[in-house]
Amino acid sequence: MAEKGPLIEQDDGHYSEEEALVYISDEKHPSGATRKAEVRRERRLCYCVVGVMAGSVALGVVVAISLFFTFHEGYFNQDQDNSVNDSPVTLKTSLTVNTSELDHSGEWVLVKWVNVPDPNISDWVGLYSVPGNFKENGINVTAKAPVKFQYADYSQTHMTKGEGSIQFRLVNIRQPLVFGLFRGGLDTHLETAQFSQATTLALSDTVSFKNWNEPLQVHLALTNDPTEMIVSWVTNSSSNPEVNWGTESGNLTNTLKANSSSYSASDMCGSPAIDFGYRDPGLLHKAKLSGLQPGLTYYYTCGDQQFGWSQEFSFRAATPANASATTRVVVYGDMGNGHVDGTWQVIREQPGAVNTSRMLRGLVNQTDVVFHIGDISYARGFANVWDEFFDEVQAVCGNVPYMVCIGNHERNWNEPTSYWKSPDSMGECGVPYERRFPMPRPALDQPWYNIDYGSVHYLVMSTEHNFTKGLHSVPVSGE
Ligand SMILES: *[C@@H]1O[C@H](CO)[C@@H](O)[C@H](O)[C@H]1NC(C)=O
Ligand SMILES: *[C@@H]1O[C@H](CO)[C@@H](O)[C@H](O)[C@H]1NC(C)=O
Ligand SMILES: *[C@@H]1O[C@H](CO)[C@@H](O)[C@H](O)[C@H]1NC(C)=O
Ligand SMILES: *[C@@H]1O[C@H](CO)[C@@H](O)[C@H](O)[C@H]1NC(C)=O
Ligand SMILES: *[C@@H]1O[C@H](CO)[C@@H](O)[C@H](O)[C@H]1NC(C)=O
Ligand SMILES: *[C@@H]1O[C@H](CO)[C@@H](O)[C@H](O)[C@H]1NC(C)=O
Ligand SMILES: *[C@@H]1O[C@H](CO)[C@@H](O)[C@H](O)[C@H]1NC(C)=O
Ligand SMILES: *[C@@H]1O[C@H](CO)[C@@H](O)[C@H](O)[C@H]1NC(C)=O
Ligand SMILES: *[C@@H]1O[C@H](CO)[C@@H](O)[C@H](O)[C@H]1NC(C)=O
Ligand SMILES: *[C@@H]1O[C@H](CO)[C@@H](O)[C@H](O)[C@H]1NC(C)=O
Repeated sequence: MAEKGPLIEQDDGHYSEEEALVYISDEKHPSGATRKAEVRRERRLCYCVVGVMAGSVALGVVVAISLFFTFHEGYFNQDQDNSVNDSPVTLKTSLTVNTSELDHSGEWVLVKWVNVPDPNISDWVGLYSVPGNFKENGINVTAKAPVKFQYADYSQTHMTKGEGSIQFRLVNIRQPLVFGLFRGGLDTHLETAQFSQATTLALSDTVSFKNWNEPLQVHLALTNDPTEMIVSWVTNSSSNPEVNWGTESGNLTNTLKANSSSYSASDMCGSPAIDFGYRDPGLLHKAKLSGLQPGLTYYYTCGDQQFGWSQEFSFRAATPANASATTRVVVYGDMGNGHVDGTWQVIREQPGAVNTSRMLRGLVNQTDVVFHIGDISYARGFANVWDEFFDEVQAVCGNVPYMVCIGNHERNWNEPTSYWKSPDSMGECGVPYERRFPMPRPALDQPWYNIDYGSVHYLVMSTEHNFTKGLHSVPVSGE
């Protein structure tokens, strides 16, 4: 939502953003005096099924016409009996992870630390992807954003014993990962965590995913032709991306080659998207299935002969207009992503998204199409949040077409081509959005479209562009 951006007010009650202020410090950081009264803004989202129009928080509008961080001097006094020996024994602070290799995205790791001198509430554990010899060079927390982090006192033994452990769930971001235990330098009072000089207490060994080309972020999109469906996914660098598909589960007799593309920092507009938050997005693959029979269920896997395949997904081809048939649509905005491991990311995560996405997964077999109308991932310049977001929704968008509309947090930036001059996209200026979601739009940076599904005609417009009457035309689909 546009807390910093322009707000278009409506008097018809159609903007129904609700913001709930949740005071979490007492539960999550019992000893966290300096973090007290931390306010987490949780956005509740609207969803609706068939015929009820959600309010567009993203300033995007869908109109349905018709039905609707080594502290070597770890200090540890093992002697209870001071009459025998009262010189302190110094043990090295260490941080360990219970594995060095992970098979699949979404696996959990256990991070443990011991011998932390004078445990402090400002101690935190950060997950970093850092190239080169990080053990010698260390991690400069002001140079690159962590993937995620957690305060050490999240572990109950930290403050009392100077040791603890935390479980992290890791998404495959195609980079070697390392954990650091740091002291200070982290301020989480703002919506974007702030990093300053931190003391490194310990660094773990590297953890890496075995397969950087594991097919991930699988999602579907409709085109203007109901006999087509676009399958999109992401890998590191596979060169022979394909979709195997068919009408019988386990017997995917058709194979289609996909096109691949990517984007880099130079395609975007500013910081943090191009520096502090930037990570290689990987290779984005797209394949357009065609000749689909209306209403028929199709099964597919995507991937590469060399690097392996995704799990099998299925979808139902678009149904033709039929006044007596029901179209089941889920429409929502402003979701973002939440972390099931309770960790934090640099740009505030949306804890409510954990429950919402769980609910969406439960509805997947009763949903024909999803419209996520703006403010999609809230990545806002922190590239790995896109990976996290797709991980959260893949069980939905891999099985149901996932149609999107741009929001202020995807598009707006203080640069000439931005209609609304605001920092809302934090340098992304719409680039990750449009490269990741192949919508039936007329051109890049013209994210509006028109689509039919069943008996419903959808007009998706962007309120982040100049929508003066007559300035642009929307290609007409259907009759
Ligand atoms: C590491 O710890 C996590 C979280 O407790 C657990 O799920 C995972 O199985 C462990 N991995 C190994 C290799 O023991
Ligand atoms: C933690 O560090 C801060 C700043 O150095 C200090 O003021 C505080 O007393 C320390 N102790 C605890 C228990 O947090
Ligand atoms: C850490 O990174 C910041 C920002 O890139 C840079 O200004 C600073 O010099 C770096 N510090 C060290 C010790 O390399
Ligand atoms: C991942 O992709 C990068 C750049 O595209 C490439 O240089 C690197 O070799 C790839 N690594 C693996 C393990 O595929
Ligand atoms: C798989 O599908 C093909 C083409 O539809 C069919 O000829 C073949 O019998 C099927 N195989 C199995 C094991 O069902
Ligand atoms: C793949 O590239 C070809 C040639 O440029 C183009 O015709 C086709 O539409 C592309 N497919 C997708 C799914 O973008
Ligand atoms: C229209 O939908 C109804 C209800 O699902 C179904 O009975 C009927 O066969 C459909 N008509 C056509 C032409 O597909
Ligand atoms: C998620 O749902 C559970 C119950 O299912 C509830 O206890 C919890 O408060 C919800 N969390 C959020 C952030 O809404
Ligand atoms: C959806 O249907 C598939 C196939 O019947 C089934 O395996 C899956 O468990 C269902 N999912 C839900 C959430 O009901
Ligand atoms: C929007 O487009 C109209 C029509 O071309 C133009 O008059 C107006 O100046 C534009 N507004 C902005 C802020 O560019």
